[in-house]
Amino acid sequence: MTTTITLTGAGGQIGYALLFRIAAGDLLGPDEKVRLRLLEIPQGLGAAEGAALELQDGAFGLLEHVEVTDDPAVGFDGCDLALLVGARPRGPGMERGDLLAANAGIFGPQGAAIAAHAADGVRVTVVGNPANTNALIAAASAGDVPAERFSALTRLDENRARAQLSETLAVPVDTVRRVPIWGNHSATQFPDVSHATVGGRPAAEALEAIVGDVPTWLDQTFIPRVAKRGAEIIRVRGSSSVASAANATIEHVRDWVRGTEEWTSAGVVSHGEYGVPEGLISSFPVRSVDGEWQIVEGLEVSDRARAHRRVGRRARRGARRGAIPRDALKGHRAGSEQGRMDAGGAR
Ligand code: NAD
Ligand code: LMR
Repeated sequence: MTTTITLTGAGGQIGYALLFRIAAGDLLGPDEKVRLRLLEIPQGLGAAEGAALELQDGAFGLLEHVEVTDDPAVGFDGCDLALLVGARPRGPGMERGDLLAANAGIFGPQGAAIAAHAADGVRVTVVGNPANTNALIAAASAGDVPAERFSALTRLDENRARAQLSETLAVPVDTVRRVPIWGNHSATQFPDVSHATVGGRPAAEALEAIVGDVPTWLDQTFIPRVAKRGAEIIRVRGSSSVASAANATIEHVRDWVRGTEEWTSAGVVSHGEYGVPEGLISSFPVRSVDGEWQIVEGLEVSDRARAHRRVGRRARRGARRGAIPRDALKGHRAGSEQGRMDAGGAR
């Protein structure tokens, strides 16, 4: 079998970090051949073409073909998996929602091109920020392609949350499970430890033994550290996360395609689950079953999660109007609410 994968922004930082891992089989395993389509804008074509030369020099046995283009019709032709990475990253002092003006215009035309040219079962992962809103914009422009085929990356936030818990509890990170992210990939996200397990046992007792006052630690240390980790990386590194973002993208897509037993997190379309307005793309605890994300239902929502949601709503109410370009979400009921979710992120 050969899978056709379209990567937008292939000449950028995350694109460069992704390409070689995809070609090496990290995404789909050692038996699945891949055909890569690298979609760029004219200014990015040189970097994408250079990456294509290096892919050739990598002599990857799984890589059947690489095509570089700035034409979305060619880029999405027959595409099974679309990774929408191409978008401007934020710099110091910016919130992800500040990128809406620069980036939202990218995703409507790409959604339309996906509907027109991609394979029937296409699955689209949006990484470019603000990821949830861009995913909604792409889905809203994608005609008959079901909104469930679009998801936004919040796996990086989940990985950050698991890594912080692992460090605090001094346990291997792969023993820490069930730390879902709720909300947007923005500073109002809620990393939820109330269901967390370590080595299959509830994490709560171990956490209390180490940090003492767990609620205070959550509010003052853990939640802000995770929610603002992207900004921390930008401050320390001088530009936004790359390799960790590419790694999370690989994990997200691999789980979507191959399925999961354990929960993970992804921004997916709401059908009203947990009171999230229908049609919004919001991060939930999810499993992937038969190639489809399924929201894990029936979880008890803690008082802290409810309080956090109220803060998120207040931030959204206070956010400026018109965050999404006028035509990007024509007639979409949840559109303005989604834009406020991103624009309302606290710094
Ligand atoms: P980058 O500037 O290095 O690369 C972006 C690339 O996208 C450039 O090569 C640019 O030419 C290309 N591009 C711009 N418009 C395009 C279009 N219409 N079609 C195709 N390509 C286009 O940026 P980066 O560091 O690779 O980050 C890319 C995006 O990913 C940013 O928006 C960043 O904020 C976001 N990001 C998201 C997460 C997440 O967890 N969701 C994590 C890290 C970064
Ligand atoms: C991240 O979380 O690292 C990315 O979304 C980049 C950013 O702007 O923070």
